[in-house]
Amino acid sequence: MIKDKSLIAIYDGPIIGKVEVPGDKSISHRAILLSMLSIGKTNIENCLFSDDILRTIEVSRLLGTKISKNGLSLTVDGLGLDGLKKPLGTLNFGNSGTSMRLLMGILAAQNFESILSGDSSLINRPMDRVADPLIKMGANIQTTSGRAPINIFPTNGLKSINHDLQIPSAQIKSAILMASLFGSGQTTIKTKTKSRDHTEIMLRDFSSSISSENNMIHITGGDLLSPGQVQVPGDVSSAAFLILATLISKSSELIIENVGLNPTRTGFIKIMKLMGGNIKTVINNQKKSSEKIGSIIIKSSKLKGIKVPKHLITSAIDELPLVFLAGACAEGSTIIRNAEELRFKESDRINSMIKTLNTFAIKTKEFNDGATIDGGTITGGIVDSFGDHRIAMTAIIASCVSEKPIIVENCKNIDTSFPTFQKIMNLIGMNIKEY
Ligand code: S3P
Repeated sequence: MIKDKSLIAIYDGPIIGKVEVPGDKSISHRAILLSMLSIGKTNIENCLFSDDILRTIEVSRLLGTKISKNGLSLTVDGLGLDGLKKPLGTLNFGNSGTSMRLLMGILAAQNFESILSGDSSLINRPMDRVADPLIKMGANIQTTSGRAPINIFPTNGLKSINHDLQIPSAQIKSAILMASLFGSGQTTIKTKTKSRDHTEIMLRDFSSSISSENNMIHITGGDLLSPGQVQVPGDVSSAAFLILATLISKSSELIIENVGLNPTRTGFIKIMKLMGGNIKTVINNQKKSSEKIGSIIIKSSKLKGIKVPKHLITSAIDELPLVFLAGACAEGSTIIRNAEELRFKESDRINSMIKTLNTFAIKTKEFNDGATIDGGTITGGIVDSFGDHRIAMTAIIASCVSEKPIIVENCKNIDTSFPTFQKIMNLIGMNIKEY
């Protein structure tokens, strides 16, 4: 395989500063898609512009949406629920699972055919988990053995369903919610574990009939009205890299401002506190948003190994690679279980982290649904990103405690979620260069 970009990271002193991180990826995707489906013009402030978001923008444009960018804000001219046009050719979702899955819900309700595909990582991820409930609603979807490429054929309308969601996935939930907008009856989704609820929160802002109580969500189709403006908070999943870098680096102190602090996303902060991390969060919704926004204050800490509580797994799902690394830096052992969903991300994140930590001379034991990690001394060395942005960035953060430099190969994928990662990390005291 031809290598793309490699990065080298060498520890270079304390992490100090007051920073912001770019806009939340999950919220940016939803803001673009709901703006497209609504009546009126929406200004999306502090939108993330990463490769995954560019895929959502590109596909929305191919469906006929007018979108213009001005600095960090994006203006979307809504098409309404009936306004989407048949796209020419195959829709390429690159590496972006969220774009593909949420758009499956929208495209399943159209009276035209669409073909969805993506890069080598995306076409190996399960899509039947989204196709199945949509088929139950009456959609006409053909996957390739449960994966992409996917053909979605025209439909004459979807029906409402009562769905018991077994997998704790916000992407499946959101695809069903998107599809429900196009029907007339009431769809009910029952969830076992609460996953991120940005779609539900934003649908209310767009005047949808959605309501939720305990573990039930109810939605009836009908027009969406643009609220005029959506404020995207900083991405707490990106902030997590800065948080762990600060905790494990000596004499460090960092403030991250304007970050999303929705409780369905803050499992990582709770896990780090249980491990002894000195972290404070202050909710401070200065900017107009229905999402909780605030600051995170972090100081260097001596971490101790824990058994990660089951109830925190879903709200920390994208940050679990960092929990593996925190375990390697902690005194004692850290046990992560009930995390089988990690095997279906951009890479098999359980296996990718085991291999990465083993290269750094950390002892681990792999389970089907997680691992045990023994705290130790991280030696450093050369690792691969396994085609996964979060594995690449986690490995780089290990340089804050490693004996030797860390080189991570094939890191171009960092641009899918956090294109300014290298710049921001260097600003607060790391030393990351192209290799
Ligand atoms: C996301 C949901 C999660 C998460 C992904 C983004 C979303 O995936 O891992 O990075 O924006 O809805 P699942 O829904 O598959 O758990």
